[in-house]
Amino acid sequence: MSFTFQDFPAARDDLRADVLAGLAARPKAIPPKYFYDEAGCRLFEAICAQPEYALCRTERTLMATRLPDIAAAVGEVECIVEPGAGDCAKVRQLVDALRPAQLTVIDIAGTPLAAAAQAVSLDYPDLAVCALAMDFLRDLEAAADWLPPGRRLVYYPGSSIGNFPPEAASALLARFRKLAGGDGQLLIGFDLKKDPQRLHAAYNDAAGVTAAFNLNLLSRLNRELGADLDPARFRHYAFYNPLKGRIEMHLVSLVEQDVRVAGERFHFALGETLHTEHSYKFRCDEFVSLAASAGWKLAGEWTHDGFAVQLYA
Ligand code: AVJ
Repeated sequence: MSFTFQDFPAARDDLRADVLAGLAARPKAIPPKYFYDEAGCRLFEAICAQPEYALCRTERTLMATRLPDIAAAVGEVECIVEPGAGDCAKVRQLVDALRPAQLTVIDIAGTPLAAAAQAVSLDYPDLAVCALAMDFLRDLEAAADWLPPGRRLVYYPGSSIGNFPPEAASALLARFRKLAGGDGQLLIGFDLKKDPQRLHAAYNDAAGVTAAFNLNLLSRLNRELGADLDPARFRHYAFYNPLKGRIEMHLVSLVEQDVRVAGERFHFALGETLHTEHSYKFRCDEFVSLAASAGWKLAGEWTHDGFAVQLYA
């Protein structure tokens, strides 16, 4: 059994700077990675259990049923790398099927990542597990030093790529390509375009869990940045924009108000929005073009009930 934990303090996320910059921008916006404090992670788990939000369940089913096929297409790999691995639950399936020598997991939340990665290493005595605590958007390149020389597979499931507008998504896919190396591969999962009413419902669940997830961002800022945001003065507002092919999620101010965040004052006009997330949806062919702009060529494709997993080399 081998387990390594490496912290990258210089590549830690910076809530204060990002939020202050976001509130000064027009429209006001906060990056979606800040949803995931402890309460946010629990709320996201709860979203995944809502009947309207099928994304996580569908991906799990797809991976479970097509795994032999996917493993055959991937072939031999020395190392699996997963940026944003969280609780490492998804990558375990892949480790089972591919039996690599090393697993490198990366996440912004170092403490839960370390615990999850150590648990993986206990369950797989022959696997070298390496956990890197960093905001990979800041310094993914530093992760390369922690990868063995052999053939690498970058795994990016969960439609996380949907959080990035096309240019940023292309740039991230290009960074994945560098990390994977010349003979490297990318296995990526993303949500497909579908009936807009179905998409709308997935981000407007009847139990109000997505609303709570969105509004929890305000509670996080209150706690961590000494802000005085009143969740009752903002409305969760999410809709599918077919022109852009994305769900947009907002917190719309119900009143004109002044708020304090990290010692600074900000004004919200009545109806002004704090934009919190884009969740892009793709057609398979659209994603092939996006990945091609980052140098990737399609090597496999599996779809199930509105979700796709593609393999690139
Ligand atoms: C984790 C980014 C895939 O976009 O569907 C769920 C996050 N936001 N409900 C998504 C989310 C609102 C989710 N991703």
